[in-house]
Amino acid sequence: MALRVNGVHHEVDLDHRVTLLDTLREHLDLTGAKKGCDHGQCGACTVLVEGRRANSCLLLAVALHGCEITTVEGLAGPDETLHPLQRAFMEHDAFQCGYCTPGQLCSAVGALREAAAGHPSHATAAAALAVPGPAALSAEEVRERLSGNLCRCGAYPAIVRAVTDAGADAAATAAGAEVTP
Ligand code: FES
Ligand code: FES
Repeated sequence: MALRVNGVHHEVDLDHRVTLLDTLREHLDLTGAKKGCDHGQCGACTVLVEGRRANSCLLLAVALHGCEITTVEGLAGPDETLHPLQRAFMEHDAFQCGYCTPGQLCSAVGALREAAAGHPSHATAAAALAVPGPAALSAEEVRERLSGNLCRCGAYPAIVRAVTDAGADAAATAAGAEVTP
């Protein structure tokens, strides 16, 4: 089967029971995505599949033939420029041991995309639901949207600050692009 991971084409010959997480870690030497629970409970294995966040421990690689996968190794630009969320995590010191961080980052990338596309969360105020367009990301929104990513070190306050800041920057950039002819 073929997978495109971080822009690189891979062909792998796998047992059909192998998960995407094990494919990345054991067959492609991409160990950024972490195995925490292996049961879809902790979010440490989060990657982006066709641009949408997913727990890679719950996906069978064989079902993803031809898909585009992005892992934490692929978030930085081609010249190694850090992704804005990676910079925000560093600026806010949003980790301790770092085990959950790859999953937090991939999940945050997906969450910001979902908010920018106008997808509401459980924390989105009823009044905001009536207004089409990007969802504003309050700290409460970030906590809800990243609630599937656990951090055993309890770095949550700094993670929320980092994602809220990066979300505000992304929204400001998008607004600037809209008014710039
Ligand atoms: S390792 Fe996949 S959710 Fe925990
Ligand atoms: S920084 Fe240690 S688990 Fe999150």
